[in-house]
Amino acid sequence: MTTENPSLYFKRHIFFCLNERKNGEASCAQHDAQAAFDHCKNRIKQLGLAGPGQVRVNKAGCLDRCAGGPVAVVYPEGTWYSYVDQADIDEIVDSHLAKGQVVTRLLTPEHLGR
Ligand code: FES
Repeated sequence: MTTENPSLYFKRHIFFCLNERKNGEASCAQHDAQAAFDHCKNRIKQLGLAGPGQVRVNKAGCLDRCAGGPVAVVYPEGTWYSYVDQADIDEIVDSHLAKGQVVTRLLTPEHLGR
């Protein structure tokens, strides 16, 4: 079953938390979130997936799931990912953003919030 909505301006949107806390509390920026964001954006561009009707990669502030960080969330599905390295980002791009297939092994555990 496909969940794609033809009226969406972007088929998929991924938001990366880039929040940095200076008070010593954990935040996604401590885990190279900026590098992951840059890598994702470049890969989407290289694969020709950027632009209207396709995929948009956006920065975000704290997404309030810091305990699972670094996190990124994909809409319209509302799928949360906790990634470790650029290979994880490649998998999210190639599988979910390009084909709509969720990368189960990278899902943020449901109970992890702030
Ligand atoms: S600091 Fe990234 S989700 Fe809160």
